[in-house]
Amino acid sequence: MLSTLLLAWYDEHKRSLPFRGAGDPYRIWVSEIMLQQTRTETVGAYYQRFLAQFPDVSALAEAPEEAVLKCWEGLGYYSRARNLHRAAKEIMEKHGGAFPRTVEELRALPGVGDYTAAAVASIAFGVPAPAMDGNLTRVLSRVHGVRQDVGQPSVKRELLNWARQDMPKVRCGDFNQALMDLGATVCVPGTPECDSCPLRPLCSAYREGDAEDLPIKAAAKPPQEIQLAVALITCRGRIWMTQRKEALLKGLWVYALLEDAKGPKEAQEALKSRGIHAAFQKELGAARHVFTHRVWNMTVYHFQADTMSCREGRFVSLAEMRALPIPTAMRAAREHAVRLLSPEIRPLKEAALPAAAQAYAESWKKSHAAHCTEAFLALHTPERMADTLRGHQAKGRGVFALYLTGKAVGVLVIDQAQNELVSLYVHPDFQGLGIGGAAVAFALKQLDERRDMKVTVLQSNEAAIRLYEAYGFCRIAEIRPLDEARKLFEEDRIRPRQETEEKDEA
Ligand code: ADE
Repeated sequence: MLSTLLLAWYDEHKRSLPFRGAGDPYRIWVSEIMLQQTRTETVGAYYQRFLAQFPDVSALAEAPEEAVLKCWEGLGYYSRARNLHRAAKEIMEKHGGAFPRTVEELRALPGVGDYTAAAVASIAFGVPAPAMDGNLTRVLSRVHGVRQDVGQPSVKRELLNWARQDMPKVRCGDFNQALMDLGATVCVPGTPECDSCPLRPLCSAYREGDAEDLPIKAAAKPPQEIQLAVALITCRGRIWMTQRKEALLKGLWVYALLEDAKGPKEAQEALKSRGIHAAFQKELGAARHVFTHRVWNMTVYHFQADTMSCREGRFVSLAEMRALPIPTAMRAAREHAVRLLSPEIRPLKEAALPAAAQAYAESWKKSHAAHCTEAFLALHTPERMADTLRGHQAKGRGVFALYLTGKAVGVLVIDQAQNELVSLYVHPDFQGLGIGGAAVAFALKQLDERRDMKVTVLQSNEAAIRLYEAYGFCRIAEIRPLDEARKLFEEDRIRPRQETEEKDEA
């Protein structure tokens, strides 16, 4: 009776969900694991992306765990992803790649509990196993008038027995999914919409008028509040991260998390005890993340280390950081980290001149080292480079300092009158971090796209040539000996004027 009313309602009202109608047990399993603790609306996009990346059990089994976690990034409850990955390996090794078909075999896979085993067995293979999730518990406790704490094992058993009795002989998967949909759309928590419920004629709670009070649940313990300092430790344009070994967020990458450190001093001491010596820079903000049983109250600090050597974890660039799986709990900290690791370009002020000139000198010496005598290199002191920069300013050129993690680490000089990128130098310790690219893009905006732009570059500086080529520059001038005795050659490159859209149309 119940199943007849329910399935007729389902045929008309079932939700159209991205994971429905798959038929493939692998896909059903992935969706059910994702749906364990995540809303159906959230799961959709993750489900599509996950299956595009790992289309079958063998693809998942062969993937590195970090790739699986990266794909799961933002979904939370990451042990689900790690278990999914372990279970895929088990299916390949123990079951020869054939998906287990019984509740018992499914139940034996990592991360598969009673609910998931029943959901997969019923939806994929038609096994008559009730998938007792929150929806089934609510609907059946109301229909059958179960008025005891549904957290009690004996009450759970009672509900399971009801579900077994109600389960039809066919369409067992649809039966489970119909109860889920009814619970999600009609027999909702709080005030249900009994007027549109197909089970109203059978419902005890409707008759008794206590649907709003069911199911009965013992009050949950409030989550534990934890104070954490999050230290963003930068060194040479990179940031320190470590992979969690603790059960919570295991395998994910985080910044330095220092429990109970109440301020920057305590955070610094805690870092020291982990072998990281870093100087406090500033407080960046606060963040809060609520887990099921825990709340992290975080204060984010910026620290600067002068060496990248460390006992655990490693310093990563912005590009590397973007490729790592990082939990949502780190969202605010990560946004600060992105800002810290993104280049900033500002007109060079007197206060930044020493640092900028130092970076200029180091960079100049590195790119010219192969061609120049020691004595000639030694002439290029930071003081002399500072004079050069002042000279550019005096000629009315645009002189900019390039900053990373708050430090001036390079210089950019442009000449608007000549439409020329005159100089671009990044401290060797900070090369390869995207600063040059950001500086060229910035220069192009300052210069006139409708005229040819000029830059002069050392022939031997392949990285710089690649960079300029990526931005549309090409070689025009003959090899020009700058100093033949020292074999120092430069060449001129231009970026031809860009046709404007109006011109194209004219
Ligand atoms: N929640 C978990 N699994 C589900 C499914 N198969 N259909 C609808 N909601 C669900």
